[in-house]
Amino acid sequence: MNEKLYQTKGKYQIAWLPGDGVGVDVLDATKIVLDKVNLDADYIHGDIGWEFWCKEGDSFPARTIELLKKVDAAMFGAITSKPVKTAEAELVPELKGKGLIYRSPIVRMRQLFDLYICLRPCKGYPHNPLNFKENIDLVVFRENTEDLYAGVEFNPVPASVAAVLAQESKPFAPFKDLPGDQYAISIKVNTRKGCERILRAAFEFARKFGRKKVTVVHKANVVRATDGLFLDIAKEIAREYPEIQMDDANVDAICMWLLKNPHNYDVLVAPNLYGDIISDLCAQMVGGLGFGCSGNIGEKLAVFEPSHGSAPKYAGQYKVNPIASILAAKMMLDWLGESVKGVAVEKAVSEVIKEGKVRTYDMGGSNTTLEMGEAIAEKL
Ligand code: IPM
Ligand code: MG
Repeated sequence: MNEKLYQTKGKYQIAWLPGDGVGVDVLDATKIVLDKVNLDADYIHGDIGWEFWCKEGDSFPARTIELLKKVDAAMFGAITSKPVKTAEAELVPELKGKGLIYRSPIVRMRQLFDLYICLRPCKGYPHNPLNFKENIDLVVFRENTEDLYAGVEFNPVPASVAAVLAQESKPFAPFKDLPGDQYAISIKVNTRKGCERILRAAFEFARKFGRKKVTVVHKANVVRATDGLFLDIAKEIAREYPEIQMDDANVDAICMWLLKNPHNYDVLVAPNLYGDIISDLCAQMVGGLGFGCSGNIGEKLAVFEPSHGSAPKYAGQYKVNPIASILAAKMMLDWLGESVKGVAVEKAVSEVIKEGKVRTYDMGGSNTTLEMGEAIAEKL
């Protein structure tokens, strides 16, 4: 465990990062549940999000980075991520004159702390009115630090980059004779190390939890270099796990097949962007935004979050469903080695869903975020 941050009493130090919008609401409900399981922890607030970008020009201030270096784990609410460029930022009153481009702090956090596994379990709890089909139980492993999220992007394209591309690309490349301000480039970077460690994590998980199959998601028939590398490494690693079936699928096709036959799938593993996309698809099949939970896991730190965004229009109304965040806390308990508590939280969630007495608006009810947190805590 990391060196203790303060002279605090708890066994664990947890950074508490509500962030923007409904991130605050759902973490408040999550805290009710964590208090009820008596986790021996200190929760230390950290500043993050759009508010701090507007105030300080940094959505992920250095003090929050320092905090994350010292804690055992973090719970993260949600972040407003706006694709603002400098010119557009000038039109936003809070941002005028800052000359900055807003970058998502969660993407930065994943890279800075090398949180290379994005683990997204998608389980359909019985009697959830939002289940697409019964008994769906999928687990997505998404690579979390590279691929199209590497941040190597050009718009406009500088002459030096254009010259290299002109030399390397096919004569019929559509951008070949265009001036640099007439096209943009986002580079997909996949390293052997990055592919290996996410693929291995998926197979190790399958082995540990007795899962039967790992499906490798890619588009190697078109994106040959990067996805080809991912698929080749998958085949190498699969040989070390003979008891687990490996199959692979193109990302477009898997979107159809997952909807058609979700029960044919078990563990899915994908490069960053495809993982982002298929994990939303899988989350929707088990109830949508209120149910998709996520663990960003590295060797030293793990940050747990609901997969949904900050939903600014619902901010502070305590209306949204906190179950995604509570299930993220369950993942955190497991990761800390407190899986007895983790199992209890999941059972409590499952019971509340099954009873159907307390339901937030997305589930067709009118209970508040905190009432849902309290109902789950009461089962513990
Ligand atoms: C997610 C989100 C983020 C991502 C956004 C908010 C930057 O969609 O965690 O899936 O693209 O990774
Ligand atoms: Mg996403």
